[in-house]
Amino acid sequence: MLKKLSIAAVAALSLTAGGAMAAGGESHVHDVDFSFEGPFGKFDQNQLQRGLQVYTEVCAACHGLRYVPIRTLADEGGPHLPEDQVRAYAAQNFEVFDAELDDFRPATPTDFFPESGLEGAPDLSMMAKARAGFHGPMGLGINQFLKGMGGPEYIASILTGYTGKEKEEAGTTFYENTAFPGGWIAMAPPLFEDQLEFADGHSNDPHHVAEDVSAFLMWAAEPKMMARKQAGFIGVLFLTILTVLLYLTNKKLWAPIKGKKFEV
Ligand code: HEC
Repeated sequence: MLKKLSIAAVAALSLTAGGAMAAGGESHVHDVDFSFEGPFGKFDQNQLQRGLQVYTEVCAACHGLRYVPIRTLADEGGPHLPEDQVRAYAAQNFEVFDAELDDFRPATPTDFFPESGLEGAPDLSMMAKARAGFHGPMGLGINQFLKGMGGPEYIASILTGYTGKEKEEAGTTFYENTAFPGGWIAMAPPLFEDQLEFADGHSNDPHHVAEDVSAFLMWAAEPKMMARKQAGFIGVLFLTILTVLLYLTNKKLWAPIKGKKFEV
């Protein structure tokens, strides 16, 4: 009976999976082993710095990061740039409109990154979390649970998922992309060979560049990930010790009664 039931369940599941695929077009997201995965994972400071460079030189032309304060680039656990470099970075790369001056001025670390400059290009501040957990069979997030795959993998897969085909619809060009749900994205392939040069001499192969910028966007969306993991770890440790203590207390409290035979 149980066997029959489970066969029926599997059959039903695969039917719906097939249906969903036929309707939406399965998007393919590949797994990446990021340094920040797992309970003890940490952001790789050099990777975040390279990712910042990629964002600044490539993505910032269209995409904003409006919820990220520029000063957090100096934070420990993040890109951890020296304060003077953050100041220089802000002033060199961005201008903000100052209502008091009624004019534009160079950005300072207390400003936020700018908004998206291109209509239709979404803000990337939360993208790595917004797109987390919808991968795997039927978008149930199973791949995230089992393989730690989430938003950063999705972003890396989008950036490297172009097939080279394009089409035009209602005046907009769409590019075929194996990771984008629906298969056609309005973002032209942003990465190409030898586009960037990294100070640390790291590979500038588009696949590596895609991973670097995805890691950076994960940090942007969750800058306190390390602190969160640490708090969780301390919590588990605390509960474990408490469990042992309670167990021993329980034993001790009941010891005089448990061993005894009651006589009537
Ligand atoms: C020339 C402008 C342009 C550049 C440069 C650009 N993008 Fe985009 N991007 C877009 C547009 C437009 C969309 C919206 C596409 C759509 O919805 O079809 C988009 C969408 C996205 C999405 C969202 C996909 C989704 O699930 O909605 C991500 C992630 C993304 N871009 C990341 C990046 C990264 C990372 C870079 C830098 C390496 C970058 N983009 C560079 C224009 C750009």
